[in-house]
Amino acid sequence: MYKKGLIVLALFVFVLSAVACFQRITLAKEAKIDPMKLYIKHCSDCHDKNGKPTDFGRELESTDFTDKNWQTNTSDAKIVKQIVDGTPEKMMSFKEKLNSDEMKALVPVIRSFVKK
Ligand code: HEC
Repeated sequence: MYKKGLIVLALFVFVLSAVACFQRITLAKEAKIDPMKLYIKHCSDCHDKNGKPTDFGRELESTDFTDKNWQTNTSDAKIVKQIVDGTPEKMMSFKEKLNSDEMKALVPVIRSFVKK
């Protein structure tokens, strides 16, 4: 009887720690992507932190993300596609640098620049 109780207790502790461990893994995974940090790191040479072209970006004719018309006429899929493919001689492709979760996480950043 005493032994059985111990086994049940051990099982209980095991399940609890497994759950805790699993939660920590998923939390860490979500916390890993910081979209604004990615934007500043990879995009801010040409697109500034407010979504406007930088001086360098202006020379390349970078898109102004604060332009309401542009925002309305572009889709989330198009934004992701631009990050994947870039534009020859204007914007590099980020296929090798960012994974698809990171690219998708950048869409709300781009969307946040427009004044409503
Ligand atoms: C070397 C400069 C440069 C960097 C770095 C850069 N871009 Fe661009 N980006 C441009 C230029 C230039 C254009 C305009 C391209 C065109 O007209 O086709 C552009 C256009 C875009 C567009 C609009 C495309 C469209 O459909 O009009 C998006 C969205 C975009 N960039 C997102 C990003 C994101 C996100 C990053 C970082 C991961 C990034 N860019 C990094 C230069 C850059």
